[in-house]
Amino acid sequence: MTARYKLLVTVAVAGLLQAAVASGATPLPQYSHDKTLGVGSCASSLCHGAIVTWKDTNVLQNEYVTWSRSDKHARSYAVLLNNRSKEIAKKLALPEPAHRSGLCLDCHAHNPKPAQRGEGFQITDGVACEACHGPAGRWITTHVEPDATHAKNVARGMYPGNDDVARARLCLSCHFGNQDKFVTHKIMAAGHPRMSFELDTFTQIGPAHFRIDADWQKRKGNWDGVRAWAIGQAVAAQQMLALLQSPRGRDGLFPELVLFDCHSCHHPMADKRNKAARIGAGPGIVRLNDASLLMLRQIARRVVPGEAGAFAQQVARLHKAVATGSDALAQARAVEHLVTSMIPKIGAHRFSGEDVQGILVGLIDDGIAGQYADYQGAEQAVMAVQSVADFMGRHKLLRMQPLNPPMKRLLATVSHDEKYQPAAFEQALRDLRAGIQTEANK
Ligand code: HEC
Ligand code: HEC
Ligand code: HEC
Ligand code: HEC
Repeated sequence: MTARYKLLVTVAVAGLLQAAVASGATPLPQYSHDKTLGVGSCASSLCHGAIVTWKDTNVLQNEYVTWSRSDKHARSYAVLLNNRSKEIAKKLALPEPAHRSGLCLDCHAHNPKPAQRGEGFQITDGVACEACHGPAGRWITTHVEPDATHAKNVARGMYPGNDDVARARLCLSCHFGNQDKFVTHKIMAAGHPRMSFELDTFTQIGPAHFRIDADWQKRKGNWDGVRAWAIGQAVAAQQMLALLQSPRGRDGLFPELVLFDCHSCHHPMADKRNKAARIGAGPGIVRLNDASLLMLRQIARRVVPGEAGAFAQQVARLHKAVATGSDALAQARAVEHLVTSMIPKIGAHRFSGEDVQGILVGLIDDGIAGQYADYQGAEQAVMAVQSVADFMGRHKLLRMQPLNPPMKRLLATVSHDEKYQPAAFEQALRDLRAGIQTEANK
């Protein structure tokens, strides 16, 4: 079982502050015009390379050690040298091996243009500090001055990863892809793993080399795991819809297949599921991967209750248009428009105890009602249930300990996509719901 299907460890956090500022227009680190200096510039033991955390500074100072010892990003370049990558490169008939191919390096390393590479830059460092925090050319010396602030650092090219929208765009640029790079069905068929991402879960299982405490929130704004989850879903939906409308969303006669639910094609014929009835388009169709749109339906009910019905209807129109072939691009544009207008509202929303309770129950009830019968919907629903329950545990809205056994069973139902059984998933949700009910009655 990979880390994403393990229980999150609940830790206490400081109280909630006001909503974070909207993201600025900082380009993604890979496309910045600033110079990348390389990990060596961050790693000294007096900077971010201490073996233990320091007590009297506001950052931990052992970030390098955490990253190099236990963060997969530090090994993402090395992956390109292994047999699986060699096999992928061979099957795709790439002109160069994987570790020299821009196609792979764009995500498995920080891969700026040659002109932006400083002396200490090494592609072999993989997804290193500046791949997420932005090239340090203009901020390396000033970010340690006594009057340095996060806003000043950002003005000098530091990437605002504290902002949910900016962070979601950053992570998803590699964990889903964007207009410039993405893992196509061909690359997956050549051996690349299927991609799945959920911002809050993945931030926590990193493992995180930072601590969100009162001091962090004072310097960088409010942090809210449920809001991060919601923003992550909205940005993922935006990217999926944008790709659906772009020329890159085509592959010969077909649309790009990664935009669809993998298991609507990849399951044995004897296993009659006929799940298409769920979206009212009849059996035997290839379904759009609507995992994040399903999550957004829950989010809309809390953030824009007056528009939630219209959103659900527009998504249904998109499914129908994709199945019938008429007007699909216009319907995708309409959904994208609604999602885009929802993002600032999610950013400004303060998720109350009632909201998170409503989302948790909504996810569980929709799941029991068969709404997440497709694996990818179930997988996102489970990560969401865990993220929301974890939030409730941390804010003492729910006692998590008694719920750990049913939560573990729920996680197990999605830990292997090919063994996914909708009925077992629904049963696990019923057990969890019963557990929550028992807790609520105490
Ligand atoms: C759009 C970004 C992107 C591109 C392009 C990309 N990858 Fe990946 N790759 C990822 C991500 C993200 C993961 C981790 C997936 C996960 O665990 O959720 C990954 C995982 C892998 C793995 C499995 C690693 C492991 O630890 O088991 C291999 C092997 C791999 N990629 C090889 C390649 C090769 C070879 C290419 C070029 C042909 C390539 N990738 C292109 C983003 C990308
Ligand atoms: C995969 C992306 C990623 C990589 C790689 C990465 N970080 Fe981070 N880092 C983050 C995120 C996300 C945060 C939390 C948001 C924030 O504080 O900006 C963070 C926070 C931090 C903080 C701020 C803590 C605070 O309290 O303000 C420091 C310092 C830091 N990282 C240093 C490093 C160093 C040094 C490296 C390389 C050894 C590194 N990071 C690599 C994503 C990354
Ligand atoms: C430049 C591309 C890139 C960016 C940006 C990026 N990642 Fe990754 N990430 C990867 C690749 C490639 C892997 C796979 C590495 C491997 O398997 O060895 C990965 C792996 C991971 C894993 C391990 C997954 C597993 O299966 O255990 C987590 C967690 C993760 N990333 C979280 C994040 C988060 C959170 C962000 C945003 C703050 C982020 N990543 C930004 C490329 C990126
Ligand atoms: C529209 C149907 C369809 C969808 C949706 C689809 N695939 Fe495929 N997939 C195919 C076909 C057709 C092949 C080629 C089978 C062959 O060569 O025998 C294939 C091949 C593959 C292979 C290689 C299998 C082999 O035998 O070599 C993998 C791996 C794969 N797909 C993964 C995925 C993933 C992951 C997704 C979702 C992100 C996905 N597919 C979505 C139809 C689909």
